[in-house]
Amino acid sequence: MIISPQFKKNILKAVLKYGTPSYIYSKDILEDNIYKYKKSFRDVNVLFCYALKANSNRVLLKIISKNGFGADVVSIGEMLSALSSGFDKKKIIFSGVGKTYEELSVAADKEILFINVESFEELKVLSKISVLKNKNIGFSIRINPNVDPHTHKYISTGKYGSKFGVSAKEAFEMYKWAKKNKFLVPIAVHFHLGSQIFKYEAYLQAFLKVEQLIKKLKCLGINIRIIDLGGGWGVKEGEVMTPPDKLAAFLSTKKENYSFIMEPGRSIVSSCGFFVVKTLYRKKSGVRQIVITDGGMNDFVRPSLYGARHPVINLNGSNSIVNNFIDIYGPVCESGDFLAKNVNMKVPDRGNLLCFLSAGAYGYSMSSNYNLRRKPAEILVSGKDIKLIRKRQNYEDFLEN
Ligand SMILES: Cc1ncc(COP(=O)(O)O)c(C=O)c1O
Repeated sequence: MIISPQFKKNILKAVLKYGTPSYIYSKDILEDNIYKYKKSFRDVNVLFCYALKANSNRVLLKIISKNGFGADVVSIGEMLSALSSGFDKKKIIFSGVGKTYEELSVAADKEILFINVESFEELKVLSKISVLKNKNIGFSIRINPNVDPHTHKYISTGKYGSKFGVSAKEAFEMYKWAKKNKFLVPIAVHFHLGSQIFKYEAYLQAFLKVEQLIKKLKCLGINIRIIDLGGGWGVKEGEVMTPPDKLAAFLSTKKENYSFIMEPGRSIVSSCGFFVVKTLYRKKSGVRQIVITDGGMNDFVRPSLYGARHPVINLNGSNSIVNNFIDIYGPVCESGDFLAKNVNMKVPDRGNLLCFLSAGAYGYSMSSNYNLRRKPAEILVSGKDIKLIRKRQNYEDFLEN
């Protein structure tokens, strides 16, 4: 991924004005990712429901909703945020393995497109709500297709043993049971295999299992024409996003029979985000060269949690490649608080600004106040325009409530 000198200048300007640690987003890259998805799937009837969990900054959400996307939400917080960021309620779906009675009830009141049900017990709760409210509720059932997406174990969700979804056999019984309640409206069948998936074949295997289920349901008079393939398409850190073209081509062979939903999160926002920290101190620990910065795992947890390796560039210092492997840490009181290890770069000077690429997904949205540290600022760069789109938290926030 090449960063233009102009964009680099703008990142620098942004952090000089708003400080570090900060997330900077490029509107151009975000819109380009959206466009690539639309282009890739232009031959099929597909609704893209952006997975808010990847990044729920409301300014970014408005850009995504304006482009016609729907939303995949996993909490009432995300649902309310989507509704107030311009997403059409009939393009919102509600996923998640542990929705409370209250959450299901609010979803019913908001009349969203459908709720992705993940267990028989959840379906029974939803049924009760629909009867009490005397209201139709659209639903789909999340299938666990027992397919290995070959990704990190923390983000693999479609194999037996995982907490997500139910087997196709159980889903069949659930659709059959739901038929007794006229308020429960079956809209789709859903699966989501995990995240950082690079092989379209995993989707294909799951698709074929879902198709078998749909055929069996037809014999019961339950006609489902929408298949929700979830999200999970991968994008390598430091690279531009390439959409799942082969998957799109496969779906176009099925377009006479079905419409589709896709729930991309990471692949829409990852490459548009940059996480910038300031070098505070350098020291040696045995043979290791340690660099301590002002941004840590509470701001950007992906390296610590998933072992993700995000390329890093020095914005105002040397980027010459030397045979010098350094470890970049944050200020948090944990040995696991690192941003990158074994980075082949010259030791940055104190004050140098280090920029981690592909930080737009699961960056800010997974940040926390661990060590009572403030959450970082978020800034949008659009052409020459630099706009603060979320203020750094105040210390006062910690003293309230
Ligand atoms: C149900 C569901 N849909 C979509 C996504 C988005 O996945 P990704 O960001 O990898 O595209 C997730 C991520 O966990 C998910 O759980």
